[in-house]
Amino acid sequence: MNINDLVSFKQLGKKITCLTAYDASFAQLFDACGVDSILVGDSLGNVIQGHENTLSVNMQAMLYHTQSVARGVKHALLISDMPYQSYTNAEQALANAQRLMQAGAHMVKLEGGREHKACFNSLQDNNIAVCGHLGLQPQSVLTMGYKVQGKNQHDAQTILDDAKALESWGVKAIVLECVPASLGKQVAQSINIPVIGIGAGVDCDGQVLVGYDMLGITQHPPKFVKNFLTNGTPKSATKAFIQAVKNQQFPTDAQSY
Ligand code: KIV
Repeated sequence: MNINDLVSFKQLGKKITCLTAYDASFAQLFDACGVDSILVGDSLGNVIQGHENTLSVNMQAMLYHTQSVARGVKHALLISDMPYQSYTNAEQALANAQRLMQAGAHMVKLEGGREHKACFNSLQDNNIAVCGHLGLQPQSVLTMGYKVQGKNQHDAQTILDDAKALESWGVKAIVLECVPASLGKQVAQSINIPVIGIGAGVDCDGQVLVGYDMLGITQHPPKFVKNFLTNGTPKSATKAFIQAVKNQQFPTDAQSY
């Protein structure tokens, strides 16, 4: 799976599946089950390190986990998160993105919209594929909180305008987190690059879940999570997740806003 495949999925109306992984064993499992992309998310701050948020995750941790996951991936597109404070200016963003690519990432993801124009442009100018992240941005938890974004007209328009700006700067995909399903649909229909939703409704071009959430390991998961391991094995749960996304049976209204 390469970046062009991901974009062509949208044109073909094929839903994209993505799961987070942080080590070689989970990466190998998800990859062998046929997931389209694997995200080394900075959610490792929560699920691996046991912190309350992602702010403690640094480049050293991202590089270690990206290298581990890369050893387990054969087919999936490997996306790595740029952690908190690792893209405060264009030079820093480029240097850190290059380190993640050298560690095995195919694409890097960074949170935020037009305020990061210089970073997006610098990565694009240097041929580094970028995934945006709009809606709820966990790295901004101290100002944003963990709550649904884009609920009023003004905020929804900001997200929409950010998505269009990111596309115009060459960003190849956008993760859209925790917004009303109607806004998820509007964003996906307004741009030509794939919108991978997490709590953004079934009309996004794909879905991503934290692997541990999908396997029911997380104790108090958010509303947008479904535990696919109600019976069976991690392998059958992963295949059930993939099938449910492909068939648009996940998320349902129960996992949407
Ligand atoms: O870090 C992460 O796991 C993420 C997902 C929530 C999309 O960014």
